[in-house]
Parts: sequence; structure tokens; C-alpha cells
Amino acid sequence: MSTIQTPTASKLALLGGTRVGEVTYSKFPQFSERAIERVVEVLRAGKAIGLGRFHSPEIAEAEDTISRYHGGQHVLACGSGHAALQGALAGLEICCGDEVITTPYTWGASISCILHQNAIPVFVDVERDTGLIDPAQIETAITPRTKAILAVHIFGQPANLQRLRAIADKHKLMLIEDGSQAHGAEIGGVRVGNVGDAAGFSCMGGKVLPTTEAGYLVTPHKSVFWKAAMIGQHMGRSPEKDFPDELRPWVDSLVYTYRVTPLNAVLLTEQFGRIDGWVAERRRHADLFREKIAGSRFLRMPDYAAGVKPVYHMLTMNFDAEAAGVSRNTFAAALKAEGMLAFGYVPSPIPDWTRLHWQDYSGPRVSWLDALAKAGVDYRGMALPNCRARVANSIETRFDFVDAQEEMISRMAEIVFKVEANISALRDHERVAGPAASAKR
Ligand SMILES: Cc1ncc(COP(=O)(O)O)c(C=O)c1O
Repeated sequence: MSTIQTPTASKLALLGGTRVGEVTYSKFPQFSERAIERVVEVLRAGKAIGLGRFHSPEIAEAEDTISRYHGGQHVLACGSGHAALQGALAGLEICCGDEVITTPYTWGASISCILHQNAIPVFVDVERDTGLIDPAQIETAITPRTKAILAVHIFGQPANLQRLRAIADKHKLMLIEDGSQAHGAEIGGVRVGNVGDAAGFSCMGGKVLPTTEAGYLVTPHKSVFWKAAMIGQHMGRSPEKDFPDELRPWVDSLVYTYRVTPLNAVLLTEQFGRIDGWVAERRRHADLFREKIAGSRFLRMPDYAAGVKPVYHMLTMNFDAEAAGVSRNTFAAALKAEGMLAFGYVPSPIPDWTRLHWQDYSGPRVSWLDALAKAGVDYRGMALPNCRARVANSIETRFDFVDAQEEMISRMAEIVFKVEANISALRDHERVAGPAASAKR
């Protein structure tokens, strides 16, 4: 049942009025006393080297813990989400001009993992409501060079893994998941990370599963696990007992340093012990907020089909600029002035980013330009109407509610309704001052 808020007629903070008050969050990230004690033990024991399972029981424990969370798949603990994602591509032997169909609406590291393999990102449009890759756009982008689809579960919303898996299987492509923002998200009864041929997750300190910079790779394929270890881990972790003999001739130290430390391995294990409670709290708060803003005229959370269970790494909303008669940036600035974080997370479609434009690039040299030039890709001015609409009109807010914080959800709703109640004053303001220049965090 929706709660219709009483419009607050007081003057907007953006226009000199009194702000509603700052939206504050649970302490985040949280580390239990046990986790902290275990980290101290690791330091006291001088365990500073992350060579892998054979050397570090902490790494073995973390990988086994995460594997249990992901249905018994192979898990490689890594130093970051980017390391895990590049490991996923390397493990699948995707590189050197291979094409990877992916989303233009994400954090850059979802794409730089492709670039760092000298592979070629092929961007397709997203769903307008959620910003998730649109499965309907994929088949027309497939060429003889296509090797994989890389889907990103942006903002903790699960991409349509069932449809993506079916397309990948039909065309004999690999499916890679970027679950960096979506630990614990589910679709159709399956957890993200459990459908792809490989998935990479970030566990940097701001994520649903936070450590102090780490990540992990999940794969059902043993060979992918070991090939990923070979590009990113010391000597490919070849002293471990399951290392495949057929890979031994290629073991050396021509590696990226993508190791996890024992310290972060301990944190991975301990944090996974708490993830279910954290995810439940995020969902409970999101449901509450959805209920509270049901009467909003201009802001709407995406609609999710039955069986879609996001984890709300961030909360994303669709803003109706036409109905509001003000720009997204001005509306976000008004929310922000009242005390609520409000920003557009993706600044522009990734193919617009100039470091991909080998034709007229003039910045510091980057390693991928040759591969893009050789492939002859031209990313400049791609249409991508849904992505552009989302970039221009979505409003994101931080959503780290991992303890009961219902009063903050009420405050957020109060802020939204206060700005809406003052919409004509905001329109007048924008007419004179022009739209706010950006909706940065
Ligand atoms: C969607 C997405 N992919 C990849 C990454 C990269 O993770 P990391 O910063 O741990 O390398 C992040 C986070 O930073 C992310 O949000």
C-alpha cells in the first residue's frame, strides 16, 4: 500500500529554505570484531604473501567459502574486481581482436577488462527502465569474430541471465557476468555468477560484499580457473595439487599481479558469513522506499518481473523530466540541497569516451588503441537511444542500509515530496539560472 506524503510547502533548500536533513547510512563497510581479530592474527603471524591455497590456508578458506555460496563452482580469489574480470576473459582465452558484446552503461572496468586483453568491445543498447543490457539487441551484433557476451548486473539488478544464456548457447558464445555490484542478486531462482562461463566480482570497500580491495572469479570450468590463475597469480599457482599437467609447459612469471592478500582472504571469509543479512536489509529498505514514493509524480523505481531480486548496491530511479518541467540535473540538485545524495552514476555512454577514439585521440598513450584501430571500430556518435535516455534521466542514490534505518527511508521520501511540492518554484529557478551543470555525486 502506498503512503501518500503530506507535501511540505516550506521553501526549497536550493532556493534558500531550510533543508529537510541529511540522509545518513548504517556504518559502512562493517567488519565484525571476529574479522578484525583474525586480520590482527594474520598480521601478527607475518602472513603477508598471497601465493594461493598451497601457501595460505586463509586463501583456501576464502575460496572454499565463496565456492559454497556459488553452488560449488571454482573460485579464484583476486586482488580486485578488474583482476577477476580480466582473469575471466583470459581463462576463456578471449583476446587479440576477439569481439565481446557488452553494455555501454556501466563502470569503465567492465570494459577495460576487455581492452586489456586486446579484445574489442561491441556495444549494444540497454533496457530503458533498468539500464541492463537488452537481450533483444544482441543477435544482430554477432559477427564471425564474436566470442562472448559480457553482461553487467548494474546497481545490483540481475541481467536477464536466462535469455542471455539461451542466446550464448544458440550462437556458441561464452557468457561472462560482471557481478561487481550484485553479490547475492537472483533471477529465476538462480544467483548471479552461477549462470555464466565465468563471472568477476569486486569486493572493494564500497561494494555489497566489502573488504579492503579484493575480488573473485567464479567459473564452472576447471580449465578457466587455471588459465585465469596463470595470467594473474604467482607462477599460475602451479604448485597446487590440481594444476593440470597440460598447462605446465606454459607456466612462468609473465603475469599480472592480481593476487589477493591473506589479510583480505580472511575478510572475504568473514564478510560472506554476513551477506544474507545485509542483502535482506537492503531489500527491505528498498521495498519500503518503493512503497513510500509510490505517489511520486516524477520519480519511479524500475519495475522488476517476478523472480527478479536485486540487491540495491545503489538505488536507481527514473526521472520524468517532461512531466516535471525541469531537468534531471536541477531536480537532483534540489534533492541534494535537502540532504539526499542524488546523482547520475554513468556520466555518458562508454563508447563516447574519448580514450576509445583511436581516430582522433590526443591524450596519454594507452595500450588498446592499436587493437581498436586494427579492428577499424568507430564508437563515435553511436545511437544507443535507451542508454542515452537513462544517462540523461536516471537519478541514483547511495543505498548502504545494512542495519535498520527506516527513518532515513522516510526522510528520503520526505525530501522527494518536498521537492515535488515546490516544483513550480524550481521551474522558475531553472528558467532564470539555467539547468544545473551536472548531476555529479
Ligand atoms: C560494475 C563494476 N565492474 C567492475 C568493477 C571493478 O572492480 P574493482 O574496483 O574492484 O577493480 C567495479 C567497481 O569498482 C564495478 O562497479
